[in-house]
Amino acid sequence: MSVLKKEPTRIVVLVSGSGTNLQALIDASHNPEFGVSIVAVGADSGDIEGLRRAERHDIPTFVLPLKDFSDRAAWDVALTAAVTEFEPEIVVLAGFMKLAGPAFLAQFGGRTLNTHPALSPSFPGMHGPRDALEYGVKITGATLFVVDAGVDTGPIVAQVSVPVLDSDDVETLHERIKAGEREMLVEWVGKLARNSFHIDGRRVVLGRPLGNPSKELA
Ligand code: GAR
Repeated sequence: MSVLKKEPTRIVVLVSGSGTNLQALIDASHNPEFGVSIVAVGADSGDIEGLRRAERHDIPTFVLPLKDFSDRAAWDVALTAAVTEFEPEIVVLAGFMKLAGPAFLAQFGGRTLNTHPALSPSFPGMHGPRDALEYGVKITGATLFVVDAGVDTGPIVAQVSVPVLDSDDVETLHERIKAGEREMLVEWVGKLARNSFHIDGRRVVLGRPLGNPSKELA
């Protein structure tokens, strides 16, 4: 049985680029029935449109460039602390081009979502659209998943497929993927936020785990 929440679910979104997926979430969150409050947007670079989108909507932002830290472990700890300050129930990586480290996963594992522009398990990594085009697949898409320690390997929440056209280059293909990706992201972030969720093996299940309230999402 799923439990519908009364308060909007607190979400922190992390971005590295243009932030069109973030924008789709911001737009959806303006409807109270969506059940989401975007409490902060974080980035690993200061000069990106994703941050400006948040600022235009008066959403608090923070920036943690990897190069400002002695090593990746120190950056991971700082990112974890920065996100923790906003007390999110769910973290969404929306085009965030860094891997979540051990400190981050210790705090937010099982409740961090990522969206990847390919149909997992095909074409993991930074260049999903390019790799799909180079391989010559006729269908590709996007995958929303719960982040684990691997590269785009976590339990899958949802997938959306799009055709690859003979006329495509990486940009046109990625734009077609992103159109489907944004719809998928909004639909499923809303569902997960309103219903809570838990992980059962490789499945992401809406609702709290039966008989184990201590493992429920905050
Ligand atoms: C999205 O397609 C997302 O899946 C991808 O970056 C794009 C961000 O677009 N993420 C990755 O490739 C992560 N490995 P946006 O900044 O316009 O939302």
